[in-house]
Amino acid sequence: MRFGWRPGAEVLNIASLRVETGESLFLRGPSGSGKSTLLSLIGAVVTPDGGRIRVLGQELGSLAGAARDRFRADHLGVIFQLFNLLPYLSVLENVVLPCHFSGRRRRRTIENTGSPETEGRRLLEHLGLGDPLILSRPVSELSVGQQQRVAAARALIGAPEILIADEPTSALDTDARDAFIALLCAEAARVGSSLLFVSHDAALARDFDRQLDLAQINRVTRAG
Ligand SMILES: Nc1ncnc2c1ncn2[C@@H]1O[C@H](COP(=O)(O)OP(=O)(O)OP(=O)(O)O)[C@@H](O)[C@H]1O
Ligand SMILES: [Mg+2]
Repeated sequence: MRFGWRPGAEVLNIASLRVETGESLFLRGPSGSGKSTLLSLIGAVVTPDGGRIRVLGQELGSLAGAARDRFRADHLGVIFQLFNLLPYLSVLENVVLPCHFSGRRRRRTIENTGSPETEGRRLLEHLGLGDPLILSRPVSELSVGQQQRVAAARALIGAPEILIADEPTSALDTDARDAFIALLCAEAARVGSSLLFVSHDAALARDFDRQLDLAQINRVTRAG
């Protein structure tokens, strides 16, 4: 699989990368090495210039626009580098958002606990945001560490098969970071989701089934 944001400037050239069902994989690499780019490819946000990406048996290249959006909403829970929470929505509204975009995740949520709101509260409670007063606050009023846990709950709701976390801990102190990763790994394991976590910080790899350096699998070597 090859990809570059511009012609002649390849960022990724990966012969093969396989993530097993239920596996948690820690992928590390320095800033600018292409970690977020790889996650965009796996999330079908961008398409490779050559080669193929298969997610849950589905060849992403054969999905057209709307089907790609549907696939992403149904099967992927994403915690973005900058969280991408909607500031004008409350904490709980942010968490249940995936259930509005995906009927599948809505159904799975209802099967699990009865309603998206109940499941949202349960997940937030698990992540240490159980205070009912927090649920109705706009996320913009929360601390960065709290926002990160809201983003995690949003990724987890409806138990998507694949969780993707893009360096979601850079703003936290060491203890909060370790606690967050332990929680994320535990929740992923509980629902049987695969977890793909990227970071430049190799010290965070401890809780994961496997760790990998992007440079080991990427044939593109960066100048400078
Ligand atoms: N949307 C974009 N448009 C153009 N170029 C981009 C875009 N996103 C990333 N790049 C380029 O692709 C390369 C890899 O960037 P990427 O964001 O994937 O790195 P990263 O490993 O996630 O870095 P960091 O640890 O800082 O988040 C960089 O050279 C970057 O400038
Ligand atoms: Mg990045």
